[in-house]
Amino acid sequence: MLRQVKEATDFIKRRLKTMPEVGVILGTGLGNGFIEAVKKPTIITYNAIPHFPISTVATHKGQLVFGEVSDKQVIIMRGRLHYYEGYTMHQIALPIRVMKMLGVKVLLVSNAAGNLNPAWKKGELMLLNDHINLMPDNPLRGENYEVFGPRFPDMSEPYSATLQKKLLAIAAKKKIKLRPGVYAAVQGPSLETRAEYRYLRTIGADAVGMSTVPEVLTAHHAGMACCAVSVLTNDCNADKPVAVKLEHIVKAAEKAEKHLVTLFTELITSL
Ligand code: HPA
Repeated sequence: MLRQVKEATDFIKRRLKTMPEVGVILGTGLGNGFIEAVKKPTIITYNAIPHFPISTVATHKGQLVFGEVSDKQVIIMRGRLHYYEGYTMHQIALPIRVMKMLGVKVLLVSNAAGNLNPAWKKGELMLLNDHINLMPDNPLRGENYEVFGPRFPDMSEPYSATLQKKLLAIAAKKKIKLRPGVYAAVQGPSLETRAEYRYLRTIGADAVGMSTVPEVLTAHHAGMACCAVSVLTNDCNADKPVAVKLEHIVKAAEKAEKHLVTLFTELITSL
């Protein structure tokens, strides 16, 4: 594991003049707009990097994009790795650990998620203030690598309170509705039944999705400050069930993308 992270990091270091400080992971349907905001981009495809897993979902490109956003050096994962694709949690953790080794201190994550909160509507954005991990595994399971972090990492603040405050202030200034809430991570790939919607709401979730938590656990363990935003692509109402289709999720995410681009670029500027 450590050797793999080192070899991947060395490979990337040889191709860069300056090292990134901010990491960004772009979720389903969220990509092109943010990539356009990157100056002097250098692109490395996942399959060129030793030990890097390759994204298998058609809507996700497998690229690392390096460049500048408001004079900050960024590394962007364009195409994330999902547990439902069959990757192990350790494979999903690898790019995050490479980011850490490159010097990344802040990780911004986006995702598409189902909306469980009856007071909210699809198309709106949620700022993660906490999560519930319902995935059957944890990227920190197995041998602990002290170079990254402790055996039992504290999880009282997995999402940086400082970054949340900053992002809420930016959203208010830009008149973007950003709702703080709890994200429940499920393994997928099947979507949820009506009974599962009820269950998720009952245990305190505002949104449900199939990503983000493995990456945040890995990053928080390694001492990176995390901030994550969900685009609520569909309403999950047990009493008014609507069939969920990937095309709809991708379309809804693309529609909300410009707001996400504004939030992330302004947040990076403020760092
Ligand atoms: N459930 C799980 N993951 C999702 C959903 C959903 O309804 N929408 C987007 N990602």
